[in-house]
Amino acid sequence: MSVAAPEPGRNMGQPAPRVDARLKVTGEARYAADFPAANLAHGVLVTSSIARGSIASLDLDEAKAVAGVIEILTHDNVGSAIKPLPFGNGSATSISPLTDAKIWHDGQIIALVLADTFEAAREAAYKVKATYNAEQPSAGFGSPGAETVPAVGKVQSHKEDPAVGDAEAALRSAPTVIEADYSTPTQHHNPIELFSTTCVWNGDQLTVYEPSQSVYGFRAMVAKQLGIDIAKVRVVSPYVGGAFGAKGSMTPRTGIVALAAKRINRPVRCVVTREQGYTTATYRAETRHHIRMGAGPDGRITGFSHEGWEVTSRPDAYVVAGTEASARLYGYGAVATKVNMVHADRNTPGYMRSPPEVPYIYALESAMDELAVALKMDPVELRRINDTMKEPIKGYPYTSRALMQCFDQASAAFGWAKRNPAVGSMRDGDWLIGMGCATALYPTNVGAATARVRLSADGTVRVQTAAHDVGTGAYTVIGQMAAERLGVDLAAVTVELGDTSLPPAPVAGGSNTTASVCSTVLIACDAIRDKLFKSAGQPNQGPVKAVLEKMGSGAIEEYAEWIPPGAPPDAIKKLYQGASTLKGGLEGEKMMAAFGAEFVEVRIHARTREIRVPRIVGAFTGGRIMNTRTAHSQLMGGMIWGIGSALHEKTEIDARHARYINRDLAEYLVPVNADVPQVEVIMVPEEDAEVNPAGVKGLGELSNVGTASAIANAVFHATGKRIRDLPIRIEDLLDM
Ligand code: MOS
Repeated sequence: MSVAAPEPGRNMGQPAPRVDARLKVTGEARYAADFPAANLAHGVLVTSSIARGSIASLDLDEAKAVAGVIEILTHDNVGSAIKPLPFGNGSATSISPLTDAKIWHDGQIIALVLADTFEAAREAAYKVKATYNAEQPSAGFGSPGAETVPAVGKVQSHKEDPAVGDAEAALRSAPTVIEADYSTPTQHHNPIELFSTTCVWNGDQLTVYEPSQSVYGFRAMVAKQLGIDIAKVRVVSPYVGGAFGAKGSMTPRTGIVALAAKRINRPVRCVVTREQGYTTATYRAETRHHIRMGAGPDGRITGFSHEGWEVTSRPDAYVVAGTEASARLYGYGAVATKVNMVHADRNTPGYMRSPPEVPYIYALESAMDELAVALKMDPVELRRINDTMKEPIKGYPYTSRALMQCFDQASAAFGWAKRNPAVGSMRDGDWLIGMGCATALYPTNVGAATARVRLSADGTVRVQTAAHDVGTGAYTVIGQMAAERLGVDLAAVTVELGDTSLPPAPVAGGSNTTASVCSTVLIACDAIRDKLFKSAGQPNQGPVKAVLEKMGSGAIEEYAEWIPPGAPPDAIKKLYQGASTLKGGLEGEKMMAAFGAEFVEVRIHARTREIRVPRIVGAFTGGRIMNTRTAHSQLMGGMIWGIGSALHEKTEIDARHARYINRDLAEYLVPVNADVPQVEVIMVPEEDAEVNPAGVKGLGELSNVGTASAIANAVFHATGKRIRDLPIRIEDLLDM
């Protein structure tokens, strides 16, 4: 056991090393763009240099003259051969490049150049000359022409703005009230594995190799785009080199590459450049928040109001509506919320790790700290006083909620008791010291799933399900579940994922995979045991291998479907057709969520204002932990991401042109080793039999929630400066 592989506590699984670790470090694991194809042609995208208007003309002469160029797809020769997809349900955007001349955003696909080599395709792509009918674009908040509309009812996940009681009256009569505006910037996922699509036709059968969090979803979408039967399409994505939501909904590139392969009657591979990924995939939209909070002298919050604004594209109603979570986190009295979407001339944003919680809980947890300061109360105590086992809107109970145990364990490990609460009171030489904390929560989403498990006479087990391992350890924890239920070694289990030739599983989104798929595998394994022990006439206990041997049969196989409570009865049928139904979380009559408490120390140089985070401690509960190593890694990674959210990440936008400026990993800042000296992860044991058969809550998106506010709160404690707009940078602290 080690820091990276903690000793399992109660209701925690062994820290088995990742079963795919060796494949990955030796380069044997095949990512989507690694699959070989005979007679492969290479596609390079050409993207628009304006954000709004239309293409007037495309001059392809010079491009076509490049040796090795085969064909160039543009709106002039594609048009209705691609069917525009509506936005949502697995489609990242309704913007459908190459179907007409319209330009909706900067960096929109305007051509796909095909050539015998990547180099020829790239050279020709540079030689495509576009002229435009350009219009003045709106870049985002405050831009002329940006259109603000209420979000409620426009997306499935936000049918009404959560509200209860008379928040205005409560805020008017509260003796202590705080009111503040917060903002978070545009962020891009930047998965290290670039976006790519490789399409291979065999007659009328299409195989798509593309990194995906939803192979069944991609299959349905690309079939729709091409107007063909989903049965003609297979999507393969066994390994994904970072996704974070960016590979969850399909973008229109997939169908364009498939059409290109069909047209030239050759396999086509298109690897999107880092820069093009910023505009042809999704991103975390910038948000703004107005929060008001009132409390009595005892610290009980009597009124809470949270209004949010989120940028989206001109045509698509993308919104994360994190008030669904912020309104349910504490036992407020009256609550009023509202979410607005702001349409601008931008590519459609999308899910990015804890999409609603990262921005909205940042605002809430910053406001909680401001309220604690106003009340002269310890911020941990303020959270304790307002902790609740029932959400305040409808009074629905949490199935389990160990938030304050998390605070107790993390604060003890951090040494919170040694903090002098007076602002600016702690100093070490030239370094001002600040300490802050915040709550993390993430809803326990679960989706209908299927799996096939086969136990062979030699004692080996094969698990097949089209779930996805986006680097999180899904292969390993799914194998652990099968090994445990059947009483075999993990080494005897082979897990196959990420292929539509396997039974379907939900999108790897909303941190649902471990909960949904392990529950389904558990059911399949138990069915195998039942069948086996019944036919052997033996009590159902112990390992299976000896029983199977005695029976003399070759193999026993079970296919299982699991539909979570609250999901429609046809959820499995829909899953086969490419639609994931995520339930649970905060949307039913039972509140299901994982929790955490995070504590950070910041050090700010008194002269240069350099901001460092020397240590961060988080304690978390997630129901059953399948594997303490992969869980530790997820939780640690999330907190490091949170440091990036607080201090580094921001996609800068040139408002004149509605264009991203820092479109590469050199200028898009993320934390590196030197930014993250010490991260401590504590897993607090928790059992919750209600959430799902596996008893698992999701962890992948839990720990980067709250981190940014803990850091902002610590910056305030060190300096007395309340920075409400992320990221916090040296220049924000110059005038103190
Ligand atoms: Mo995650 S942003 O739900 O893929």
